[in-house]
Amino acid sequence: MGCAISGLAAKAEFGERNTGDDAAASAAAAYLREDQIQMIKESWKVIRDDIAKVGIIMFVRLFETHPECKDVFFLFRDVEDLERLRSSRELRAHGLRVMSFIEKSVARLDQLERLDALALELGKSHYHYNAPPKYYSYVGAEFICAVQPILKERWTAELEEAWKTMFQYVTGLMKQGYQEESNRQRHLAVSPKERPDKRSTAL
Ligand code: HEM
Repeated sequence: MGCAISGLAAKAEFGERNTGDDAAASAAAAYLREDQIQMIKESWKVIRDDIAKVGIIMFVRLFETHPECKDVFFLFRDVEDLERLRSSRELRAHGLRVMSFIEKSVARLDQLERLDALALELGKSHYHYNAPPKYYSYVGAEFICAVQPILKERWTAELEEAWKTMFQYVTGLMKQGYQEESNRQRHLAVSPKERPDKRSTAL
C-alpha cells in the first residue's frame, strides 16, 4: 500500500490547501511548462495501455488511505472487504470514467481553455455527487502511486512534478466549479419570502 511520492513535502502539496474560494488562484498558480506538457504526453502513451488497471488500483488505494471517500459512493459505501472491490465491475467502470477524463485532459494540454471548461463542469457535477473539494487532491496522489510501477525506470522526479502540477491545475478548476455550483444552488434555495415578488408589487 505504501508509495513514496517524494516525501512529506509532496504529501503536503496534495493536502487540503487551496480549497474553496481561492480555487481559481490555485488553478492559475499551477502553471504547466511546455517541457512538462511533453513529459506528461509521452508518459501517457505508456500508461494508457493499463488504464483499467490504474483506475482500480487508484480507487482501492483511495478507499484504503481515506475511507471517508468511500462513503460518498452509494455503490461502494457498504463494502467492507476492499480486496473484493478489485474485481468489481462497477469499480472498474468508475475507474475507467475517471481515467478517460484524464486522457481528455492530457489531450487538451495544448488548448487550456478547453481543459478549463471540462474541469469546471466536472467540479459542478461533483457538487451534485456530494463529493467535496477537500478530497480531490487525494486522487492525484493515488494516481501517481499507481502509475509509478508501470513506468518503472521512466519515472523521474521531474515527471512526478509534471503530473502533480497537472492534477493541481485540474483539481483547482474542479474546486472552482464546485464552489460556483454551490453558490448557484444556495441562490436558488433563497426562500420565496426573501425574493422580490414581482406579482404582488405589480398589483
Ligand atoms: C481528480 C479528482 C477527480 C476526478 C478527475 C474525477 C472524475 C470523475 C468523472 C470523470 C466521473 C464520471 C461522471 C462525470 O463525468 O461527471 C466522476 C464521477 C463521480 N465521482 Fe469523481 N473525480 C475525482 C474525485 C472524486 C472524489 C475525491 C470523489 C469522492 C470522494 C468522487 C466521487 C464521484 C462520484 C460519487 C461520482 C458519481 C458516480 C460515478 O460516476 O460512478 N470523485 N468523477
